Amino acid sequence: MDWKPDRKAKKAIYKQLAEYIEKGIADGTFPPDKPLPSERYLASTLNVNRSTVVHAYDELESLGLIDRTRGSGTTISKDIWGITKKRIPSWNRYIEAGSFLPSLPVTQKIRKEAVEHKLINLASGELSEDLFPKRFLSEITSTRSFIGSLGYDHPQGNEILRSTLTKHVKISRGIETNASSILITSGAQQALHLIVQCLLKPGDAIAIEDPSYNYNLPTFKSAGIQVHYLPVNEDGINPEDLQMLYKKHRIKMIFLNPYFQNPTGYLMNQKKKEAILDISSKLGIPVVEDDPYSLTAFSEEKISTLKSMDKNGNVLYISSLSKIVASGLRIGWIIGPTSVIERLSDAKQQLDFGHSSYTQWIANDFLESEHFHSHMKCLIKELEKRRNTIIKSLDTYLKGLVEYSIPQGGIHIWCKILKSFNETQLLEESIKQGVIYAPGSTLGSKESFVRFTFAREDEDSIDEGIKRFAQALHSL
Ligand SMILES: Cc1ncc(COP(=O)(O)O)c(C=O)c1O
Repeated sequence: MDWKPDRKAKKAIYKQLAEYIEKGIADGTFPPDKPLPSERYLASTLNVNRSTVVHAYDELESLGLIDRTRGSGTTISKDIWGITKKRIPSWNRYIEAGSFLPSLPVTQKIRKEAVEHKLINLASGELSEDLFPKRFLSEITSTRSFIGSLGYDHPQGNEILRSTLTKHVKISRGIETNASSILITSGAQQALHLIVQCLLKPGDAIAIEDPSYNYNLPTFKSAGIQVHYLPVNEDGINPEDLQMLYKKHRIKMIFLNPYFQNPTGYLMNQKKKEAILDISSKLGIPVVEDDPYSLTAFSEEKISTLKSMDKNGNVLYISSLSKIVASGLRIGWIIGPTSVIERLSDAKQQLDFGHSSYTQWIANDFLESEHFHSHMKCLIKELEKRRNTIIKSLDTYLKGLVEYSIPQGGIHIWCKILKSFNETQLLEESIKQGVIYAPGSTLGSKESFVRFTFAREDEDSIDEGIKRFAQALHSL
C-alpha cells in the first residue's frame, strides 16, 4: 500500500484513512469482490494504532459503505454495488466543505455548556429573562388584532415600524432619517452579515477593533475578506492607526462598536469620533457603526452617535432591540443611503422574504407606548446595580489578581488577569466549578483577559459566579 497518512495535517488520521478507503472503494482500488485489508495489517503497514483503524472502519460502517462480520473480516457493502445501490452521503465531507465557516470550537463549547449544564452564565451577551419587559409585551400581544397584517411585508420591513424608528432614533440618538433609509433585519447580526455579503468582495481589506465582537464572527473569513486590527484604548481606537492601516492595506470599510464596546465596555470620545469621520470622508471609506448598547448609558449625558454627526452619508448605522428589550424578538435595523438599503433589502428578500411581521408589530407598539421609557429607566438602574455587584465581587474574591476599568453602560466588563494561566485549563476548571465566561482569545485579545457579562444573571448569581471563577483561578 503506497498511501500514508499525513501526520502534520490537522485532520485526524482515522478520518484520513476512512476517506482514503472510501475513495478507493469508489475508484476500484478496493474491488467489491475482495475483502478489505485487516485491521492488524493496516495498523502495522501504516504504523498507526489499531484503534485508529477500528475508528476508520466504524465510520465507514456507519456510512453504510462496509460490512463487518466476525470471522470473515471486512467487506465492501453489497448495497453499494447491488441492485438497490443505496448510498449514504458522506455528511462529514459536506460539513467540512461548506464555504460558510463554523464558529470557533471554544465558542461552540461555551454555548453548549451554557445550554446543557446549569452553569452560572457570565458568558452570554444578553439580558436575563427578568429584565425583559414581559408584562408590557404580553399586554401588547393580548390586545392587538393581527387580522390582515400577517402576509409578506414590505422588503425593507414594516413601514409603520420604520416610521416609528425614525422618531425613536431622532430622539434617542440624534439621527435624522426617513423610513426609506431603514432596513429591518434579524438583529444587528444579520445587518453585519448583509453588509459583508453585499458590499464587499473576496480579497477586500477591512478594519475591525481589537478586541471586538466582530473577531468572533466567521462572517468575514467566510467571505474571503482580509481583516486588519485597530487596537482599542479606553477612549476608542486611534484615528492615526486607521490612517496607517489605510496606507498599508487600502482598507475598504471600518467596523466600529464605539459605545460600551463588546467586550471592553469602553466609550469612544467625541474628538476621536470627529477625527474618524474626517478620515472617512477624506478617503471615501464607509464606517459601519454597530450600536446595540448606547441607550444603556448609566449617566444621563447624551451620547452623540457617528451617524448623527455624519453630514455626507459615510456611516451605515446598525442597532437592535436585543440589549434593551428582548434578544428573542430578533429586531435590528440598518440606516444608510437609500441605494445601499435597497441593495441590502433585495438580499434579505432572497434570504428570508423579510422579517416576521408578528415581532415587528410587537416592537412597533412597544416603542410607541409610554412603557418604553419606564422600561428603559428600570433596565438601566438594574444594569448599574449588577455592574456594581460584579465590581464588588471582583474586589472581594480576586483582589490583586485582576485589573479592569469600570464600564459606564452596556453589559460587559473586561478583566485583565494579573496571574499567568493557561486559557484552556482555566475554562475547563471554571466549568467544573459551575461558571462560564468568555475567554479573551475568542474576542481577539492576545493577552490574559476574560469578559464577564453582568446582565445575564441576578446579583446573587453574579457574586457566586465570580467566587467560583476565583476558586478555579486559584486551583490552577
Ligand atoms: C457589538 C455587537 N454587535 C452585534 C451583536 C448582535 O446582536 P443582535 O443580533 O442580537 O442584535 C452583538 C451581540 O452580542 C454585539 O455585541
